[in-house]
Amino acid sequence: MYILLMGPPGAGKGTQAEKLVAEFQIPHISTGDMFRAAVKNGTELGKEAKKYMDAGGLVPDAVTIGIVRERLAQADCSKGFILDGFPRTEEQAVALDGILQDLDIKLTGVVNIGVPDSELVSRVTGRRICKVCGATYHIVYNPSKVEGICDKCGGVLYQRDDDKEETVKKRLEAYHDQTAPLIDYYKKQGVFIDIAGMQDINKVYSDLLAAIKK
Ligand code: AP5
Ligand code: MG
Repeated sequence: MYILLMGPPGAGKGTQAEKLVAEFQIPHISTGDMFRAAVKNGTELGKEAKKYMDAGGLVPDAVTIGIVRERLAQADCSKGFILDGFPRTEEQAVALDGILQDLDIKLTGVVNIGVPDSELVSRVTGRRICKVCGATYHIVYNPSKVEGICDKCGGVLYQRDDDKEETVKKRLEAYHDQTAPLIDYYKKQGVFIDIAGMQDINKVYSDLLAAIKK
């Protein structure tokens, strides 16, 4: 199963990917997570990416396409993957078509999780993530049992650097300008699936599963 998860910042891509990984045991490939790991490790890629991430903009296409090309060619992707947050520009989408063609892979579906902007700021600013296992929580919509501590592994929860309100607004602008047009791109390819994201997390997941099983 080769799934692409699309949607604005805070739509629930990472949350739904976690559930798909648990059910199907295929890798979750999030360009945002890859960039954050690079920042944490202090690599050249991390230093370059951080400038754009902190400003709420997109990392340049050439850099992003390169890391995805390398990652998708790894053996664990051959039976399936969940690609989250890529592509985000038309140039990335065209490059992905070429990468998949080279690997002889056809997308099972491109799932767009739709959520209105008015909801997204509170989703993103209330998000907390486990430092150890990466599990995602929300202080109101999906709280951990003990405040600040991960239910799954006991790790400490933290807030992403780019989850401040001003940066979230910039990220939303980048989404509308550069990423939302890809909805038409994938509609034309006949693989587009629209999921209503303004529902409880488990209902979004059951709708998503039903749609990709069709
Ligand atoms: P990235 O990490 O991909 O961030 P994003 O796309 O802005 O999306 P988020 O991770 O913020 O949201 P999400 O949809 O995963 O939501 P989540 O499940 O966590 O990218 C970060 C940055 O990296 C970019 O700004 C850019 O700079 C760079 N970058 C990444 N990819 C790039 C690319 N391809 N090209 C160029 N640059 C790139 O949920 C959010 C919150 O809501 C959580 O607290 C969760 O618990 C809660 N929640 C989830 N679902 C629900 C629900 N149904 N109801 C209520 N609450 C919910
Ligand atoms: Mg995410």
